[in-house]
Amino acid sequence: MDFMKLAARLRHLNPRLAAWLEKQAQAIPPVQAKLEEQYTDLLHDLEASVKPYGAEFASFTRLPAKGRAKDEIIAEMEALCEIEKPRWQAGYASGAVYHGDAEHIAFLNRVYALNSQSNPLHSDLWPSAAKYEAEIVSMVAHLLGAEAAQDEICGTVSSGGTESILLAMKAYRDWARDRKGITQPEMIMPVTAHAAFEKAAQYFNIKPIRIPVDQTYRADVEATRRAVTRNTIVIVGSAPSFPHGLIDPIEALATIARQHQIGFHTDACLGGFILPFAERLGYPVPPFDFRLPGVTSLSVDTHKYGYAAKGTSVVLYRGTTLRHYQYYTTADWPGGLYFSPTLAGSRPGALSAACWATLIAIGEQGYLDATKKILETAATIRAGIEAIPELRVLGDPLWAIAFTSDTLDIYRVLDGMAGRQWSLNGLHKPTAVHLCVTLRHTQPGVADRFLDDLKATVTHVKEQPATQSGLAPIYGLAATIPFRGMVSDLLKRYIDLLYRV
Ligand SMILES: Cc1ncc(COP(=O)(O)O)c(C=O)c1O
Repeated sequence: MDFMKLAARLRHLNPRLAAWLEKQAQAIPPVQAKLEEQYTDLLHDLEASVKPYGAEFASFTRLPAKGRAKDEIIAEMEALCEIEKPRWQAGYASGAVYHGDAEHIAFLNRVYALNSQSNPLHSDLWPSAAKYEAEIVSMVAHLLGAEAAQDEICGTVSSGGTESILLAMKAYRDWARDRKGITQPEMIMPVTAHAAFEKAAQYFNIKPIRIPVDQTYRADVEATRRAVTRNTIVIVGSAPSFPHGLIDPIEALATIARQHQIGFHTDACLGGFILPFAERLGYPVPPFDFRLPGVTSLSVDTHKYGYAAKGTSVVLYRGTTLRHYQYYTTADWPGGLYFSPTLAGSRPGALSAACWATLIAIGEQGYLDATKKILETAATIRAGIEAIPELRVLGDPLWAIAFTSDTLDIYRVLDGMAGRQWSLNGLHKPTAVHLCVTLRHTQPGVADRFLDDLKATVTHVKEQPATQSGLAPIYGLAATIPFRGMVSDLLKRYIDLLYRV
């Protein structure tokens, strides 16, 4: 048995001992040096794609002694945009840009320009910002079952899905400490729940209890039931999950939470603006929102399928009590009475204005039409993937489609597609690739181009001897390295690389 296999077995048998051994091994200077060498080699291969701009664009490590001419700055930015725009505009990306039509972007930009000085922290100066945010919350709550709920559904605007999730988990932690005396809080989440939940667990000192998914890649209900303890503060489910685009059995999970009088959070960051319309279009959509009495909070991203500019999301709560546990207030600070609803202090009011403007410009009919186009395109793409004998779609997704292969290295397919401009997402556990279908893919010819490129890539991977480049070695390594700390270190080096001038 080689070292990696031995380490993997140890990690399986005794994760804590494995983590301890890993730490000890990493502290040995020759091991450290060897790891450093390996990280450098791996990242060296990625550097060119992460930092593609050379001397043709001015770069700054310090402030220029004198300000540059504004026209020059704009010209340089326009040049960068022209390089980057064609790829996402032509629909080569998974997710990322959810609307992207030129006319819609021009509208968002006008709204942003009008409101660029607005800051909701100063609601005396910009009461319009408070109006926009209150109305965003109300419109989104009504989309997600507020009408049918027995209780008031309230919430706040945040900067994105991650912040909405962080805020909800912090609210549960503080609520459980205050109301139930829980000082060692635990949150139960399927392994497919977004990384933001794990981040919340780290930031707020909540113990994450990870639940496996079943053969359909949806949270295991019985495992969830068994995992509830006196310290559980919240159960989490996705509608749908980021990796496989599948909706957890929210009704069953939320019922468990209700029986134990604890929180249940639906993460509808991806599905909040698709599922209500999919339901109206007659697609099979299981209940996931506030129509279920056990659902006590929900995150939904206006900056994804809400088609607002990047930087807004909504976190909703059943009842005002939980929302109060999200707020920050202080009465003792020499800077005066201070309060803020979310993590940030000052916030870009222009983004809330653009979000509000988007919601009312698109309206119900606009979202219904967009959803129809997306779901129809996704069905074509899914059928095309299923027709490639070497590939297999995971579960039964509606529009975020993960696929793998039982015969080929799927990461080589991921790399081959990257070579044909496609920016898809690599997944692991199990190894797979996914495409999150957006309005960009509903443009004429995009679905066919995707499927043609995928077929050609699969043929190429089948015929060529194993060669690896790009992301495949990183994903391959991440899948085989038994020590997660090493993978974490590698990712930290990757972030360092992004910040290198
Ligand atoms: C299901 C789900 N939850 C949460 C998030 C996090 O959203 P954000 O990237 O806006 O922080 C995502 C992002 O893709 C997601 O798909």
